[in-house]
Amino acid sequence: MPILASQTCPLLPSLLLTLLLRFTGTSDQEFQVTQPESSISVRAGEILTLGCNVSARSPAGPVLWFRENGQERRLVYNFNGSQFPRVTQVEDTEFNQTDYSIRISNVSPKDVGTYYCVKLTIGHPDMSYVSGPGTYVSVNGTTHEIFQVQQSEMTQTVSIGETVTLSCSVPDSFPKGPVLWFKGSGPSRELIYNFKEGLFPRVKEIGHITKAGNTDFSIRISDISLADAGTYYCVKFKEGKPDREFQSGPGTEVFVTILPSLPVVIGPLERALIGQTVNFSCMSYGFFPKDITLKWFKNGKEISSLQTHIVQMKNSNTYKISSTTEVVLTLQDFYSYVTCNVNHLSLHYPLQKNADLSETILVPSNMSIFEHLIPKNKINVICKAKKFYAEGIQLIWLNNGNISQIDKTLTPSMSSDGLYTV
Ligand SMILES: *[C@@H]1O[C@H](CO)[C@@H](O)[C@H](O)[C@H]1NC(C)=O
Ligand SMILES: *[C@@H]1O[C@H](CO)[C@@H](O)[C@H](O)[C@H]1NC(C)=O
Ligand SMILES: *[C@@H]1O[C@H](CO)[C@@H](O)[C@H](O)[C@H]1NC(C)=O
Ligand SMILES: *[C@@H]1O[C@H](CO)[C@@H](O)[C@H](O)[C@H]1NC(C)=O
Ligand SMILES: *[C@@H]1O[C@H](CO)[C@@H](O)[C@H](O)[C@H]1NC(C)=O
Ligand SMILES: *[C@@H]1O[C@H](CO)[C@@H](O)[C@H](O)[C@H]1NC(C)=O
Ligand SMILES: *[C@@H]1O[C@H](CO)[C@@H](O)[C@H](O)[C@H]1NC(C)=O
Repeated sequence: MPILASQTCPLLPSLLLTLLLRFTGTSDQEFQVTQPESSISVRAGEILTLGCNVSARSPAGPVLWFRENGQERRLVYNFNGSQFPRVTQVEDTEFNQTDYSIRISNVSPKDVGTYYCVKLTIGHPDMSYVSGPGTYVSVNGTTHEIFQVQQSEMTQTVSIGETVTLSCSVPDSFPKGPVLWFKGSGPSRELIYNFKEGLFPRVKEIGHITKAGNTDFSIRISDISLADAGTYYCVKFKEGKPDREFQSGPGTEVFVTILPSLPVVIGPLERALIGQTVNFSCMSYGFFPKDITLKWFKNGKEISSLQTHIVQMKNSNTYKISSTTEVVLTLQDFYSYVTCNVNHLSLHYPLQKNADLSETILVPSNMSIFEHLIPKNKINVICKAKKFYAEGIQLIWLNNGNISQIDKTLTPSMSSDGLYTV
């Protein structure tokens, strides 16, 4: 067995490795290799004890320990008296020919991997192998996090119709076996993606799963709907018959949102005089979830609202908000504006809409009339409309109560106070 001669020769021919896996617990009903723990977690610096026993003394042949870590396989211990620093056997196998447990001292993160206890039986013409089911060893140390199934996002917020990215990394050192994505946990969890097989039209994988040493099992789910809200778990399985769940990521909670509509601000239906109070209302609809904030501002300064209501829209899961505020009009308000500001989980920036107060103010004109005698017994009558607002004006001349002329095409001039004269 030249390939097993050196403890530093890490790679065994793939034939042997295939055999190691294929023969796991199934090759020979009479002869069995037992590894009681399927996984062990130890702290760096501690002693690791790996249990192994074989069911019988015969047939003859050595027992070996291997560590498998990603693509790499190493001989860990050989019970024939060779020196392996840090490794000791628990029992003296010369006397006890069933217990092949070992101890590894001064454990470090480099010792992470799956440890297989393997019995070789030498017969003719072939050699056969019976392997234990393997014990996965994780080491808690400063770097222990990199040996876990990781999902980097605790939560993800996505708008309806968009695409959500769910990150997952699975250590290369884990035992062989598939990685699956589930929504929810427990027996009723829903399979979202299988990297090996199946049809998942809305899911795309991000990592290069087929590439050796790949640790990226992230996915993208497109065309999100409200029904996609929930917690998604990336779960590593250990190969077997059937595959067994090995470790789950901590989960990523997905919140599905619907954007609110652009707010609409409605001022009073008719203009109002200086000193009067006018109401402005603001409405935004179609959003999910219900939580939303609406603020009012006048010239950028927050003002209070009279009332704000959020109601569910008919035949829909979505909501509508409406709010009213009041403003007292002053002579300084020709350039003033009120703002309705809406913020929601689905938005990166608040949505806002302004309304100019100038569109609301009414200042009646101060009318005066002058007469000038002109030749041929005629008089010129001059009408002056002063300090009015808004600009649009028409003058109607009455002669003894009868309409004599309508001037619609006047062009008033604006004075510095914002008021018009014509
Ligand atoms: C143990 O076995 C290996 C081959 O597996 C051999 O190279 C080595 O010399 C043996 N050591 C002893 C002390 O017999
Ligand atoms: C290793 O760390 C994990 C997470 O911090 C902890 O739950 C576990 O108990 C630790 N195991 C040991 C053996 O210290
Ligand atoms: C050794 O393995 C057998 C099964 O093959 C099991 O019944 C027995 O309890 C094991 N002994 C120890 C000490 O693990
Ligand atoms: C061999 O080891 C097993 C497990 O530790 C034990 O049950 C058994 O009694 C031992 N046999 C002898 C002969 O020491
Ligand atoms: C403004 O709105 C409040 C509350 O809806 C209402 O009570 C009040 O009459 C309104 N004022 C005006 C001037 O429309
Ligand atoms: C209208 O104009 C006259 C003359 O300029 C002024 O005396 C009067 O106070 C004004 N009335 C109002 C209501 O502004
Ligand atoms: C005003 O109109 C009425 C009927 O259209 C007419 O009878 C009357 O004479 C008019 N008055 C003047 C002052 O033109």
